[in-house]
Amino acid sequence: MIRISPSLLAADWANLQTDIAKIETSADWLHLDVMDANFVPNMSMGPQVVEAIRHHSKLFFDVHLMILDPAKYADTFIDAGADLICFHIEALENPEELIAHIKSRNVKVALAVSPDTPAERIYKYLKDVDMILVMTVYPGFGGQKMIPAMADKIKAIRTECNRLGLDTLIEVDGGIGAGNVALLSSAGANVIVAGSSVFKAQNPAGAVAELRAAAENI
Ligand code: DX5
Ligand code: ZN
Repeated sequence: MIRISPSLLAADWANLQTDIAKIETSADWLHLDVMDANFVPNMSMGPQVVEAIRHHSKLFFDVHLMILDPAKYADTFIDAGADLICFHIEALENPEELIAHIKSRNVKVALAVSPDTPAERIYKYLKDVDMILVMTVYPGFGGQKMIPAMADKIKAIRTECNRLGLDTLIEVDGGIGAGNVALLSSAGANVIVAGSSVFKAQNPAGAVAELRAAAENI
């Protein structure tokens, strides 16, 4: 089953409630990008925004922390309404403790890998996490071009999951639209993040449906 997780980064920030309403019934998750101007050269939302929109959406909140100190802020985002906390392996050399802590708070946990980090780096954590996020652009900005070579990384991780008997979710994020999603879903990705291709579309709900159809038609 494919899950579509529109990235709010590409929405109209003066009208978040209106934009969320446009995809509320067609999307499965809502992807929330948190940037601290340190781990990535950009800033985005903090916990106050997550808490504010929590009152206006029943979607599963997929919180992507692109921050240097995820251990310090994970609880704040859980308290704000996150259903899943995803943090980068590049930010925390030994992620075991934070993985266990997030699970103890009864939310889902994911590890993200940036394009230059080899897949093997996260293999030993596969049995402990709900999802791996394979970045298909360098983290920090919406509207970039998807890196097709990331399909090989997805295949490698899916093969390793199968070898271990795990049905771990694999999420992809960056530069994805109906025209290129099949390359990634056929490689084994089943959670699709899309910012620009959904929120910049004339009809965001229609764009979600198109993405889903393209991802499933493999
Ligand atoms: C990039 C973010 C993405 C971004 C995707 O660092 O993690 O979630 O919003 O946006 P698009 O789909 O426009 O590349
Ligand atoms: Zn993201």
